[in-house]
Amino acid sequence: MMLHLAEVLDQATVADFRAQLDAMDWVDGRQTVGAQGARVKQNQQLDVRSPVAVALGQQVLAALARHPLYFSAALPRRVVPPLFNRYAGGGQYGFHVDGSVRHEADGSLLRTDLSCTLFLAEPEEYDGGELVVHDTYGQHEVKLPAGDLILYPSSSLHAVMPVTRGARVASFFWIQSLIRDDARRVQLFELDQTIQRLRARLGDEAEVLQLTNLYHNLLRQWSEV
Ligand code: NI
Repeated sequence: MMLHLAEVLDQATVADFRAQLDAMDWVDGRQTVGAQGARVKQNQQLDVRSPVAVALGQQVLAALARHPLYFSAALPRRVVPPLFNRYAGGGQYGFHVDGSVRHEADGSLLRTDLSCTLFLAEPEEYDGGELVVHDTYGQHEVKLPAGDLILYPSSSLHAVMPVTRGARVASFFWIQSLIRDDARRVQLFELDQTIQRLRARLGDEAEVLQLTNLYHNLLRQWSEV
């Protein structure tokens, strides 16, 4: 499932991010990719150790945690520290796979279940730069307002189209979910959202409580902790 999370960052925060990011030195994005990706990747990234990247990444995760749909949709177990990239002057990233298992700085392994792109440039600022994601329902093009985020299964082949005018600035990162299987995660999300709507209408009726119990029992059966 692809899910659009609107207004993860508000306009003032986006402006603050951009003031800091636009003043940074960017490095070749091929430093953080495997052999397949390196052949098709043509963009710039912030050095992952840069204090600005670390601080802004923490702000992204704090904002995401406040978003009403995030926990319900992602059921996150661990999240990679957010990275930042920039495409300009024809920069693009051809169709590629994201590595399924990442070696984190602390020596641990993280399975990438969900990929996130947080847009930090308004669509009018640049031409091209659509995120194109293949899934079982075909090919989807995504270009969101600054501050909005798209969540999609890391199992999908995806690309970023060439940026022919202006610059596309974004943050991107991966999530290991409590629920490895996308179909199960989607069912839990739909069940949770339905329960929340029922609770808003009916309060804690016995049937709402029973459905909530069912949700948690499914989560208990399927989650990997
Ligand atoms: Ni990718």
